[in-house]
Amino acid sequence: MQFSRFGNWFTRPTGARELMDDLGEAMASENPVMMLGGGNPAHIPEMQALLRDRMHAIADQPRELRRMLADYASPAGEVRFRAALVKLLNDEYGWNLKLENIALTGGSQTGFFQLFNLLAGEFDDGSCRRILLPLTPEYAGYTDLGLSNNQFVSRRPTIEYLDDRQFKYHVDFSRITVDESIAALCVSRPTNPTGNVLTNDEMEKLAGLARSAGVPLIVDNAYGVPFPQIVFGDIHPFWDENIILCMSLSKIGLPAVRTGIVIACEEIIDAMTSLNAVMSLSVSSVGAVLMRELVENREIIRLSHDVIRPFYRQRAEQALEWTRESFKGCEYFVHRPEGALFLWLWFPELGITSEELYQRLKKRGVYVLPGHHFFPGLDEEWDHRHQCIRITYSQDAESVRKGISIIGEEVRRACA
Ligand SMILES: Cc1ncc(COP(=O)(O)O)c(C=O)c1O
Repeated sequence: MQFSRFGNWFTRPTGARELMDDLGEAMASENPVMMLGGGNPAHIPEMQALLRDRMHAIADQPRELRRMLADYASPAGEVRFRAALVKLLNDEYGWNLKLENIALTGGSQTGFFQLFNLLAGEFDDGSCRRILLPLTPEYAGYTDLGLSNNQFVSRRPTIEYLDDRQFKYHVDFSRITVDESIAALCVSRPTNPTGNVLTNDEMEKLAGLARSAGVPLIVDNAYGVPFPQIVFGDIHPFWDENIILCMSLSKIGLPAVRTGIVIACEEIIDAMTSLNAVMSLSVSSVGAVLMRELVENREIIRLSHDVIRPFYRQRAEQALEWTRESFKGCEYFVHRPEGALFLWLWFPELGITSEELYQRLKKRGVYVLPGHHFFPGLDEEWDHRHQCIRITYSQDAESVRKGISIIGEEVRRACA
């Protein structure tokens, strides 16, 4: 079969396909696996109970059920849910949003596909503009979303060494220039894969650079505030007309409903609405109807603060403890976990690449993500990208403990 240029582009071997196939294979395997790859959120019992109750309540309310399952929503997404979000965000942060500032998408991954191709790529005058990722490592899911080649350009960070074998990446502003080849800046905060939270100062500087250049700053808030609050310190959220803030219902425990939320100026939201209409007529209302009441009564914030955040914080501390035990005597560093679901481990003296380490671990039933996938748009050589792996601590505790112990054994072997 001969595919179009679009077809060839999206069917070429990609990291996303390889990783998702791996996950599918691991989940279907008869043998026990330690799933420390992937980004599935945990199945937190309080959240599961709440979802069950909401599903029952909606099933008993014919109008709600119809809204959830039997009516096409507006192409910008279910109106009452968006209105509830507007009120919550205005009350919480004083942002002065209107309904026209929010659109839903079929998961934030789809939202990023739309945004990156709306803003960057080829222009009528023949020029090409790219998305600047000011700090890599950055979310691997962005890598293959561009319709044109080279849609991303990124920069390496500076590294701050902390106590207890921890470190933290910072934006290296000496490497950042926002010239006319840049269409927008984009950061995830908290960052997947590192658990980094860019400082308020870094965010203000990035917002200033974007504003001066007349391009938007996209902030991927999939793990941030006010929900799901998988952030372990205080975090100050940013929004103004030049910021495109992307949120999601996935990490609160609803990855299967595919609900992304984009908060931006009216021009961007209008464009996203057109893209939704063309690509899918309208967006699924399942997540929106399921969660609307919790947004209206602010229960979503309480649950995030009292249930989700402490759950992951405890998991992160526990995983760190196991890391200390298992890697004793190895040259290793771990990025300070400030949020999200991951530990980012760095082995500067690894005698093999992180890809080879990943293959060896897979043979022992331990699934991790090799680090090189997390440097989209970085065209300079940097050994560091072959020395790191990402592990998830969201899955069952015993698998995480065993998995970390096996990683310790394999790393010790590879460093010998
Ligand atoms: C930083 C980040 N952004 C976006 C996404 C995509 O989330 P979803 O499409 O489920 O909303 C993920 C998923 O892991 C993520 O980690």
